[in-house]
Amino acid sequence: MNLSHMKQKQWLLASRPEGIPDRTHFDLVEVPVPEWEPGKALVKTLYLGVAPVMLRYMRNETEFESPLPLGSLMPGRGVAQVLRSDCPTLPEGAIVQARLGWQEYALIDASHRPAPFILPSDLPASHGIGAVSLTGITALVGLRDIGLVRATDRILVSGAAGGVGSHVAEIAKILGAGSVTGIAGGPEKCAKLLTSMHYDEAIDYKNEDVDEALNKLFPEGIDLYFDNVGGPLLDNVLGRLRRRARIVICGAISEYLKDKENRHRFINLQNLGRQDAKMEGFFVFDYEAQYPDDIALLAQWVREGQLNPVEDISQGIETLPDALGDLYFGRNTGVRMVHVGDPVQR
Ligand SMILES: NC(=O)c1ccc[n+]([C@@H]2O[C@H](COP(=O)([O-])OP(=O)(O)OC[C@H]3O[C@@H](n4cnc5c(N)ncnc54)[C@H](OP(=O)(O)O)[C@@H]3O)[C@@H](O)[C@H]2O)c1
Repeated sequence: MNLSHMKQKQWLLASRPEGIPDRTHFDLVEVPVPEWEPGKALVKTLYLGVAPVMLRYMRNETEFESPLPLGSLMPGRGVAQVLRSDCPTLPEGAIVQARLGWQEYALIDASHRPAPFILPSDLPASHGIGAVSLTGITALVGLRDIGLVRATDRILVSGAAGGVGSHVAEIAKILGAGSVTGIAGGPEKCAKLLTSMHYDEAIDYKNEDVDEALNKLFPEGIDLYFDNVGGPLLDNVLGRLRRRARIVICGAISEYLKDKENRHRFINLQNLGRQDAKMEGFFVFDYEAQYPDDIALLAQWVREGQLNPVEDISQGIETLPDALGDLYFGRNTGVRMVHVGDPVQR
């Protein structure tokens, strides 16, 4: 299949944002679809995900996507259909999750880490951005491997209505946990925590007194904190730890827009020692060896109706910059992604 006579859209990095990224930081261009090359797979993009860390790619702040010169294709992972390939791990027709970049077609191979992986063919392709992909794995690794979740844990989750957070209560319960409380911004999101994401209690940090709510819901303290936001809320939780508590540092979105000197300085850190507690971060890319097993597990939970993905999808590659900005404005509920195209009928 040669599509090089066709044009495709791509988003290029135009400037480095100081605050929340928007369209002015990108250029939308039209270029020819790449020609297939031996040893590679030509793929058609179906969905692209956005993640808070992309702001840091744009600012050259991460090791794994830097240097990113201005004018480069915006990096990002997504779900795609393999159109032409001679790669044994990327068979023609397969639906794969891979590092595609913000474009409608891509020429990929297995040289990037994590390597592309094939998605279960019986589930919606969009789940390859969220529940049965890196978002679901992040929630699973954070709870099971880092948080060592236990049945008796009193669990608190920040960023609970976001992509990762929307999976945490359900996965915690599948792993045997009892009650899970989520923190999110706004009454609609908090309602969704209770109705669609299996949280038992919700705290609206934008409209409620968080101290009061935590005093009421955790009178004896917190055993497990799954943290997506960092900053003063993490400090607050550090002051409320029970003995042998665990804090999972998944992310710190409340700090990503701040310069180093303006980031929160923690006053309750010593409580980790006092309570014989631990705080541990992790990076989902480092868990690549267990992706096949974890994806099989997550897919099974979705099929059984135990894990119910909440997806927030906009239509068309043109919406990517807005989708990324939405994460920082708090406009998404569940996994924010963009539907870019449909599979070719074979
Ligand atoms: N460790 C890993 O390997 C790994 C992998 C993936 C993601 N992450 C991290 O996990 C976290 C969640 O990622 P995600 O992709 O699922 O994104 P996400 O949670 O969907 O991020 C967007 C949400 O973050 C919240 N938010 C935005 N600004 C905030 C602020 N200043 N204070 C508090 N909350 C704020 C908003 O929810 P509200 O409206 O409720 O405020 C927003 O809807 C991020 O920190 C990300 O960097 C880590």
